[in-house]
Amino acid sequence: MKNQTQKIVIAIDGFSSCGKSTFAKAIAARLGYIFIDTGAMYRAVTLYALEQGAILDGKVDEAAVVALLPEVNISFRFNAERGASDVYVNGELAEGKIRSIEVSNCVSSVSSIREVREKLVAMQQQMGRERGVVMDGRDIGTVVFPDAELKIFMTAEPKVRAERRYAELTAKGDKVTMEEILENVISRDKADMERAISPLRQAEDAVVLDNSYMTVEEQMAWFMERYEKIVNA
Ligand code: DC
Repeated sequence: MKNQTQKIVIAIDGFSSCGKSTFAKAIAARLGYIFIDTGAMYRAVTLYALEQGAILDGKVDEAAVVALLPEVNISFRFNAERGASDVYVNGELAEGKIRSIEVSNCVSSVSSIREVREKLVAMQQQMGRERGVVMDGRDIGTVVFPDAELKIFMTAEPKVRAERRYAELTAKGDKVTMEEILENVISRDKADMERAISPLRQAEDAVVLDNSYMTVEEQMAWFMERYEKIVNA
């Protein structure tokens, strides 16, 4: 029997750019939970690999990335202004850089490396050991926390997702085209679903949320209904 004071793990998995982070962040703020953006961790490793020359012309040298792993230290620090944690790589703020198109283009390859996943999954399990976390990613409900009390699988139409990512990047001043963003969204979906280790798939006990045409408020109402049922069961 659970109650409002008993903290649970909320696993949010799904396709890229469906607003998982926005949704997870809003839930964490509402419940007083810790929000963990696991995609930021894969992006952080990718950024470091790019900076250290383990990725050249978009080609990922897997052995070189694995060799770098012991020296990549990823940490999060809460940023009150954003209401979320910023990611740091070896003590250096990396939040802006990890969202660049260069990192987006290589992150699927980096996240398909077994050793990278092993390191990051262990870190994620450690971060959620006290429960009271909202974790978003691709394999949270299936691999990281198969025992999560609430699993949500998020999806939205590719075109809608590309439009969202385009707006986000152009607002930051990045020079990108809709075509390249849509291509990136589609190719990442494919790579995430087809990779050999921990492919993106819906956990059997996950509930699906298609938010193509839903506001954040509507998503929150949808969530709270399910959350209340679980904690009051
Ligand atoms: O959520 P995002 O787009 O920031 O994630 C970046 C990449 O990291 C994405 O291509 C898939 C990968 N990823 C993963 O393999 N497993 C996770 N738990 C989170 C992200």
